[in-house]
Amino acid sequence: MAPKLPSPLFPLLVFVVLTLLFLHSSLLSSPRPQPQNLPRPPSCNLFNGRWVQDPNKPKPLYDETCPFHRNAWNCLRNQRENMAAINSWKWVPDGCALDRVDPTRFLTLMRNRNIGFVGDSLNENFVVAFLCALRAADSGAKKWKRKGAWRGAHFPKFNVTVAYHRAVLLANYGWHPEQSAHAGEVKAKGVYRVDVDIPADDWAHIDNFYDVLIFNTGHWWGPDKFPKETPLVFYKAGKPIAPSLEMLDGFKVVLRNMVNHIQKVVSRKTLKFWRLQSPRHFYGGDWNQNGSCLFDKPLEESELDMWFDPSNNGVNKEARLLNNLIREAVQGSDIRVLDLTHLSEFRADAHPAIWLGKKDAVQEWGQDCMHWCLPGVPDTWVDILAQLIRHSFESQRLGH
Ligand SMILES: *[C@@H]1O[C@H](CO)[C@@H](O)[C@H](O)[C@H]1NC(C)=O
Ligand SMILES: *[C@@H]1O[C@H](CO)[C@@H](O)[C@H](O)[C@H]1NC(C)=O
Repeated sequence: MAPKLPSPLFPLLVFVVLTLLFLHSSLLSSPRPQPQNLPRPPSCNLFNGRWVQDPNKPKPLYDETCPFHRNAWNCLRNQRENMAAINSWKWVPDGCALDRVDPTRFLTLMRNRNIGFVGDSLNENFVVAFLCALRAADSGAKKWKRKGAWRGAHFPKFNVTVAYHRAVLLANYGWHPEQSAHAGEVKAKGVYRVDVDIPADDWAHIDNFYDVLIFNTGHWWGPDKFPKETPLVFYKAGKPIAPSLEMLDGFKVVLRNMVNHIQKVVSRKTLKFWRLQSPRHFYGGDWNQNGSCLFDKPLEESELDMWFDPSNNGVNKEARLLNNLIREAVQGSDIRVLDLTHLSEFRADAHPAIWLGKKDAVQEWGQDCMHWCLPGVPDTWVDILAQLIRHSFESQRLGH
């Protein structure tokens, strides 16, 4: 005979069961610290998302006293307006979590390993943010210099080196003045010879010193740096390429050759990234036409195409154009794309603008709506890169 519950006890039993269920589910859903050794799911795309203002966002990991700053980007020292607002925005990827870099944990993971950046000043902007953030875990960090390395630091507590090699076109290039008819007399004009198949000296000899490499190029590939009167002329195997190439076709050939070179000489074990273009935010004219970026908040998503879609022919259209060529060039290689463009497109508010720390700099050079204030947007680039590196090394260690 089935036991029958005495009816007065039944409501109590229901209550107890419901309470247990509630406790169980709230324990499961309560925020718990992330298990320290579990990698993030690899499917997570950190590059799509939105910026949200977060009053509880922790303060940046460094301030104007970081010894690795470059003056023109040290916006705290240069007393740029709105620095607190600039750093109150947090990048929130769609459907996955982005953690702020934990310098101690990151450097512990990287012990006895090295990270190298190769490219133009936008990669330098990136590395300065990285050095200043990591220094929070090792105040004994020392400036580090090698042949070709422009800027870097060694973190002695962890025996980690992070450095930047300046190579604005990645390929080797040099100025060749035009010889005039009279022997020995040199005219002002000439050409820049680019050897598409030879890496610039600044990074040609890095061998396998680095365990992680981050490449970029693109910001110099325009008529600002190389106008028609002093153009780039492309050479391969020591001979001029014929017929001669337009700048963007030369860009494609250099990309292909540099990617091949990296595949040939850099170990498969080295984790390789190619970072995409950093968008500029000149409003009302280009840098030499009084273009300005005195914005006090990020752009709306709906404004981005107007600024950056090449079909709108705005002054900042080149980033997306070059990105397409870069994506094509690295396809099929073991180089991963670090797509920092989209998230940065929003941040018209975060450039040094007129706060350059030097009298007359604006009159002479215009506003800087290309590089980024530090602390600022490059700290988010650092968080993303650190999370990807961590994920990659932790899954190797776990034998995935
Ligand atoms: C520091 O790291 C390098 C690799 O970058 C390694 O060759 C060297 O032995 C390490 N030094 C110490 C003291 O562990
Ligand atoms: C930039 O502004 C200055 C001062 O207002 C003006 O004299 C100059 O003509 C402007 N230049 C351009 C290209 O608009």
